[in-house]
Amino acid sequence: MAKAARIVATGSYLPERILTNKDLEQMVDTSDEWIFSRTGMKERRIASSNEFTSDMGCKAAQMALERSGISAQDLDLILVATITPDYVFPSTAALIQSTLKAPQAAAFDFQAACTGYVYGLAIAKGFIEGGVYKNILLIASEKLSSIIDYKDRNTCVLFGDGASAAVIRDSGPGLLIKQTSLGADGGVANLLMLPGGGCRQPATLESVEKGLHYLSMEGKEVFKHAVRRMQSAAIHCLDLAGLAQSDIDWLIPHQANERIIDAIAKRFEIDEAKVFKTVHKYGNTSASGVAIALDELLDEKDIGKGDNLLLVAFGAGFTWGAAILTRAEI
Ligand code: UT7
Repeated sequence: MAKAARIVATGSYLPERILTNKDLEQMVDTSDEWIFSRTGMKERRIASSNEFTSDMGCKAAQMALERSGISAQDLDLILVATITPDYVFPSTAALIQSTLKAPQAAAFDFQAACTGYVYGLAIAKGFIEGGVYKNILLIASEKLSSIIDYKDRNTCVLFGDGASAAVIRDSGPGLLIKQTSLGADGGVANLLMLPGGGCRQPATLESVEKGLHYLSMEGKEVFKHAVRRMQSAAIHCLDLAGLAQSDIDWLIPHQANERIIDAIAKRFEIDEAKVFKTVHKYGNTSASGVAIALDELLDEKDIGKGDNLLLVAFGAGFTWGAAILTRAEI
């Protein structure tokens, strides 16, 4: 019988330091009122100067592995979704493979920005259901504070750091990755990007002076695309799975802005209490956002047999995607 990929355990790590809206008032011309009313954010976590994407990813992974009942030695593959890797190369996944002591595991990074975790679920599902691997560790980890200009009020209030991980296996109890749907449009890549640091604009004194190594975003435009693309990704994923909107028990959208989340929820006519949010306390943690929210949802709520969770995300690229997770009957 064909193997079905399932998440058997999750874990997360959030740095200790909290950056509140009040703190930001001391740094740029902004206010708690503006930030909260435009984004729903109250605070976000910031990694310390000697804490990196691989460190946070490892901590989340260790928690997920402990809960999964398998050890790092059993892992066949480590996948890391990030736009803030420790280095351009080697991969953050390879660094984590060494720290976790997972000698049998292949390891690579991939990036689909804020859609990274959803892309990762699709990659893991393909490897497991194709019979290539049995035990996969999917990590989303971001130190966005390393690419944010804390003098730019348009962006610095929005982002935070954090990591989350999932152990994905071919057997055992957990959440089946029932369906995924992915999309991309690189035609508007300039609306959300990190212009410097790649081969088009390697680091030079001039590029650093121009601030090209900071995230740049046309927020209003991105907002419109985010709502439209997340809605269509979710609908496409439901169609592929043969499910109706009413079959969704929990909606976990990308945690970029509470107004975006509410706009999507409204289009889905889902009970407000079934839309899971962490944006108020962690801000936008890019790839880690839906992953951290999923981990917290599993900690806090009872997910019954057969319940369907719909994850939906949107990010730079642009990329977008949705995944339906179903509590396995086993
Ligand atoms: O994770 C990937 C996906 N990312 C997203 O989905 C983010 C999408 N975009 C957004 O969430 C929103 O567009 C923002 C939160 C970034 C901005 O909200 P907005 O309602 O679209 O505001 P705006 O950019 O139109 O700015 C309105 C005003 C501007 O002033 P003027 O030009 O009207 O005088 C901004 O300069 O608000 C000003 N502003 C601020 N004021 C106080 C921008 N940032 C701030 C700030 N504090 N932090």
